[in-house]
Amino acid sequence: MPLPILRSERLLLEPFAAADLDALHALWTDPDVRRYLWDNRIISRDRAAGALASAMGAADQHGIGYWTLRQDRARDVLGDVGFQFIPQTPDIELMCSLRPQFWNRGLAAEAAQAALEYLWRATPFTRVLARGDLPNERSVRLMERLGMWHYSTGTALITYVLDRPARPTF
Ligand SMILES: CC(C)(COP(=O)(O)OP(=O)(O)OC[C@H]1O[C@@H](n2cnc3c(N)ncnc32)[C@H](O)[C@@H]1OP(=O)(O)O)[C@@H](O)C(=O)NCCC(=O)NCCS
Repeated sequence: MPLPILRSERLLLEPFAAADLDALHALWTDPDVRRYLWDNRIISRDRAAGALASAMGAADQHGIGYWTLRQDRARDVLGDVGFQFIPQTPDIELMCSLRPQFWNRGLAAEAAQAALEYLWRATPFTRVLARGDLPNERSVRLMERLGMWHYSTGTALITYVLDRPARPTF
């Protein structure tokens, strides 16, 4: 099932498409974005293409995946948001990244909220996790801002959970 285009107050969320590869590779290799997202590795364009293909495949098979974020169709990709399976588990996790010049405006929370509303409305998933590297305070603040509850703190990762709301939030 292809993901729909979503809109929030300030953002256009468009499902990942093959044409997004260069914009996503640039986003994911930005020094401030890759630090926690890719363990600071500068991933190759081929690796980015693999991640993009995997996200697009999950959308077709399971109705979850990723959206690019733009202020409007004429503007560049400023970030991404979406869901992916946690390997070897039935659970999915929420991920989000923004180019640093777009931090501190509430755009990540706004994008995540739009993605979560889609998740509860259109898929059968009953909970979503979010995992942050322990020093990634911005990521932890985002999880708390979204109303997620603290599940565990390990040596390297902090995990939060959000349960399907009892009543729709839309
Ligand atoms: C994680 C990440 C997306 C969070 O970005 P962010 O800008 O901190 O988060 P938001 O867009 O929700 O903005 C929240 C901040 O904007 C401020 N803000 C300013 N204007 C605002 C508005 N109109 N509405 C809401 N918040 C606003 C808030 O006070 C908040 O600041 P605070 O955390 O100091 O209280 C970003 O740091 C990132 O891309 N990191 C690299 C990738 C990564 O590590 N991702 C984590 C894995 S999911």
